[in-house]
Parts: sequence; C-alpha cells; structure tokens
Amino acid sequence: MLSKRRGILHLLYGVRSLSANITNKNKVEELMDSKHVPQDKEATLYIHWPYCQKRCHYCNFNKYISQNVDHEKMKKYLVRETKTLLSMSGVERVKSIFFGGGTPSLAEPGTISAIVDCIRDTVAMAPDAEVSMEANPTSAEWFRLSEFKTAGINRLSLGVQSFKDSFLTLLGRNHSSLDALRALEAAKTLFPGKVSLDLIFGIPNQTLTDWKEDLEGVLKVCDNHISLYQLTLERGTNLFKWHQAGDVSLPDADETADMYQIALDTMAEAGFRRYEVSNFVRDDSVSIHNLSYWTGGQYIGVGPGAHGRFALPGGNNRESFYGQREARVQTLEPNSWMCEVEKFGHATCKRVKLSQLDSLKELIMTGLRTDRGIANRTWMQLSGGKSLIDIFGNCQTLNTLGERGLLELTCNSFRVTDKGLIVLDSIIPDVLNGLDSFYARKSSILYVLDNNTHL
Ligand SMILES: C[S@@+](CC[C@H](N)C(=O)[O-])C[C@H]1O[C@@H](n2cnc3c(N)ncnc32)[C@H](O)[C@@H]1O
Ligand code: SF4
Repeated sequence: MLSKRRGILHLLYGVRSLSANITNKNKVEELMDSKHVPQDKEATLYIHWPYCQKRCHYCNFNKYISQNVDHEKMKKYLVRETKTLLSMSGVERVKSIFFGGGTPSLAEPGTISAIVDCIRDTVAMAPDAEVSMEANPTSAEWFRLSEFKTAGINRLSLGVQSFKDSFLTLLGRNHSSLDALRALEAAKTLFPGKVSLDLIFGIPNQTLTDWKEDLEGVLKVCDNHISLYQLTLERGTNLFKWHQAGDVSLPDADETADMYQIALDTMAEAGFRRYEVSNFVRDDSVSIHNLSYWTGGQYIGVGPGAHGRFALPGGNNRESFYGQREARVQTLEPNSWMCEVEKFGHATCKRVKLSQLDSLKELIMTGLRTDRGIANRTWMQLSGGKSLIDIFGNCQTLNTLGERGLLELTCNSFRVTDKGLIVLDSIIPDVLNGLDSFYARKSSILYVLDNNTHL
C-alpha cells in the first residue's frame, strides 16, 4: 500500500587529462560532440570549496569557518588534484564544471580561473560548456560576480532559502531578503537565463500561507531555474539540537506534503516544468551538470570531501569497463586534504569498486527522480546489454504500479509519472526489489549451469 504522506523529498545534488593531451584539432572537435565520445572518456567535474563565513543552523555539509583561508595554497592544491584525477580517469572530454560548497563565492576569482583554465588546457571542453558556481547572496559576494564571470563562470546558483527575514534568521543565514534581491538582480544582468535559486520549505513555524507567499514572491523576480528543498533535520546541527530539546518543531509530514503540492501547482501555473523532484525549469534551462549526474554520467570530485563516480581505464572490453566504476571520496578536512595532495597528487581517502548491480541501483535512485526517467540506452551500457524491459518487464509489482498510472516502462525508457513522483519514496524500494530478484534469478541460473557442467 502506498502512503501518500511518506517522505517525498530528499536532497540530492547534485552534485560534482593529462593522458588526453589532445593537440589534433579534428580530435578536439570530435570530442566536443558527445555523440562521438565513449561514455568512459567523458565526465563532469565537481569542485568543492570547503569554507563558509558562518555556520547555518540546519546545514551539515562539509564546511569550515575560517578567517584565515590560505587562498594561494587552496588554488595550488585544487589545480593539482584536478590534474591528477583527470589523468587517472583517462577522461578526454569534460561536459560541465560545478563549483559547490561550502561557499565557493568566497574563493578568489583567480582560484576559479586557474581551475577552469587547467581543465580547458588538459581536456576537450566546448567553449560554451556549463560552468556553474553556488553563491550566497551577501554583498561581499555579489560585488564580485563580474570577476567570477571573467574567471569562466557562466551559470550561478544562489542560495536564497527564503524571502522572509524572520526565517532567514531562524536558519542562521547571514543575509537579508533585500541582499538576496540585490544579488539576484546583479546575477540576472551578468548571467541572463542562467541563474538558479534555492528555496527551502518546511521551516519551523512556516505556514502554508508563508510558503505560498514565498513562492509567489520568487516567481516575480526569478530567472529560469528554481530548486525547492524540503528542510531536513541533520545530526550535528543547531536545529537538530533545538529539535531534540523540544525548543523548535517542524511542520509534520502532512503539512510538508501540502507545501510540496502547493509548489507543484504554483510552479506549473507559472510555466515551470518539474524536471527533477526538487528542480523546476522554464525555457529548458536545465542544469546540464546535475542532469548528467542524475542520469548515470561519470563525475570526478575534486576538493575536501568531494565525491566522484568514475572508472579507471584498463578494462579490456565495454562490459568490463562498467564493472570498474568506482565510488570515491576525498579527505574531508582541508588541512589534511592539502597535505595529502602535496604528497600524492590527490587526496582520495576511500575507493569502493561498484558492481554492475550497485551502479544500476544508483541509476534507479537518481534517474527515477527525473521526469524523463532512465533512458534504455544508458541502462544497457551499465547493465552489460540487458534492456529495461528484459529486467522489469515481468515484474508483477511494477506492472501493478504501471496499471495504476504511477510508472511507465517502454522500449526507450523507464519513468515515474507525475502522479508517481508524489509517492516516489515508496516506489523506489519496489523497483530495487525487482532488480534484486532479476539478479538473484540470473545467479541461480548460472549456478544450475555451473553445476551441470560438473555432471
Ligand atoms: C550546501 S549549500 C552550498 C551553497 C551555499 N553555501 C548556500 O548556502 O546556498 C547548497 C544548498 O543546500 C541547502 N541545504 C543545506 N542543508 C540543507 C538541509 N538540511 N535541508 C535542506 N536544504 C539544505 C542549502 O540551503 C543550499 O541551498
Ligand atoms: S548552507 Fe551554505 S552557507 Fe550555510 S553553512 Fe551550509 S554551505 Fe555554508
């Protein structure tokens, strides 16, 4: 039985070669055109800037508050780690770059340009490839937006969170709604059509009317992309402590479900398409970077605590390559991270080989959050040639969900419908079970075959 009110939204970011020393112009042009690039030679790059001015009360991202950031050292080591990981991955074409954090708008523009230049000098990257940066709307940062543009940034994601000052204070933000409006105006002038903004809902004491007003306000001033995140209680944050102590209470699951529904209706009326559970867009100004991440693309994570998913070259055929995709995490703490990059050229502290099944599960969990779903083409590359229909076509539970209008499985794709996205968190376990059963059947068939060979 599907519960309409089960948790709807969870945060997903998105997220974030020397060997490819390409001098031949035709080769570069060929690599610019993704149709000609094998998937293992292409990736997106996520760069993590780990510092913030102030710790927000709700955030447990990998961030550090420091008044003495050594910008020269950070620049040197971010560039060095970028070079090393590009070289190790064998990637020849970078589709997009995303500077996330922490607060990357506190980095020196010279750091941003050094990294972008290093990538462009090392691998093929289209001149207009997406280069995004997250920014906080404080005046210190929006005064420098034009310098970031010169450094190579062409898309900006502004963390507005709310246009109500009382909620900004409660969340521990160090900007006002007026700061956000000013930053937004500056950003839209510099990056027309390429500005996204983040809003949070489900804030303590926030009513449905407060949320509706925030949405209506944002639609008067926004550009073409909006991310709407449900506030999640994270361990280690002040908000978590206050909640444990009974000093604050969050809206309950029914209220947040109603807030999400209000968001869906309001955004649709304003002509925005929900292309991912938390992301809305008009004029098709999607985030290329996040879309690639949600749809199974490789990504390289650089900087303290950054995550990556990529294969090391060396597989002897297409199927074995995908077996080699790895989950990687870089050392969290910036000073230790710098020491390791100095010593080893990179600071990967954890590498986990992903099995074919692991990669498919990840694709299900991100791809089904998008309105277009999982493309059969991508699925078959990761599954070693098995189509979506081969795997899910005979699954009775999923067929029932399909009959109820929650899922759509065709030769080309597997997607959750608009109706299904509202109860996505209860659909995903059924899809994962369907996949597990297929693999269990497959391994028992192999077992029987194997036994027979001994007869
Ligand atoms: C980690 S921040 C980095 C960018 C920038 N420092 C900022 O605050 O906008 C990226 C986004 O994550 C959101 N975020 C962080 N913790 C969250 C939480 N517990 N619940 C919902 N959104 C969260 C932030 O509000 C922000 O919009
Ligand atoms: S929400 Fe952004 S500014 Fe606030 S602590 Fe987290 S990363 Fe830093």
